[in-house]
Amino acid sequence: MPDLSTLNPQQRQAVETIRGPVLILAGAGTGKTRVITFRIAELLRRGVWPDRILAVTFTNKAAGEMRERIEKLTGGRGRGMWVGTFHATCARLLRMYAEKVKLGRDFVIFDDNDQRTLVARVLKDLGIADRFATPRAMLSAIDGAKNRGEGPDVFQGHDYFSDLVARVYPVYQQRLEQSNGVDFGDLLLKVNQLCREHAGLELRMAGLEQRLEYFDASDPTWEDSIRQSARHLTDLLARHQATARNILNRTTDTRDTEREGKP
Ligand SMILES: Nc1ncnc2c1ncn2[C@@H]1O[C@H](COP(=O)(O)OP(=O)(O)O)[C@@H](O)[C@H]1O
Ligand SMILES: [Mg+2]
Repeated sequence: MPDLSTLNPQQRQAVETIRGPVLILAGAGTGKTRVITFRIAELLRRGVWPDRILAVTFTNKAAGEMRERIEKLTGGRGRGMWVGTFHATCARLLRMYAEKVKLGRDFVIFDDNDQRTLVARVLKDLGIADRFATPRAMLSAIDGAKNRGEGPDVFQGHDYFSDLVARVYPVYQQRLEQSNGVDFGDLLLKVNQLCREHAGLELRMAGLEQRLEYFDASDPTWEDSIRQSARHLTDLLARHQATARNILNRTTDTRDTEREGKP
């Protein structure tokens, strides 16, 4: 089990604050992941069940590192914990509730290449030449729309390129659905939809309301109210690309914010 005396005072305070939100805002290499992993180990030491703890991060690499460090710190006591990227966490939830958002349970996640191939075919079928919209630019626009929570039904063009997006997006989406597929943006969007359309379900989702008691995100784009319901988690998931500016603005009006000092 972790030796808390190896933490600096601010780290230690964050690790020992078990109830209520804790925001850790510090530069690269200053010990944020150390705080999160120690906090998880401390929760386990105090008898919290691993399947009530959820840890979310940006990249597969970071998630792998987090998993490894927790394992090392707790000697396998964290088994059953959900540690993953925002997308992996959403994919996991979707596997459990796929049919509620009109997906087959064995839905396929289209990777970058699959998405590129699909959008290139749609562009070709609609007679839109590369010089007007490349598959890459089109995908990036569609992904942007999804991350803002705009489905093909609400997306609106306002210039030449976005008018093209407005034509391509619905067809692209329709073909994804026909092949029981989702792209990366859908993973977030559909979990959000799941929560919006199945209010009674949201709190039971994967025991998510319990996990949220001990929710640790290495991305601090969260709000004080995060624990009030699972919906906030999915809002967070959908907004995972919030900018650092956003984060900084939020800290100024977050009462419980403590700034982590350097070791
Ligand atoms: N209080 C501390 N005492 C000793 N080493 C520390 C302390 N805090 C962090 N470190 C070490 O510094 C390095 C960077 O920490 P890490 O948690 O990965 O930072 P971050 O997640 O903020 O980038 C790691 O090797 C970690 O073990
Ligand atoms: Mg880190």
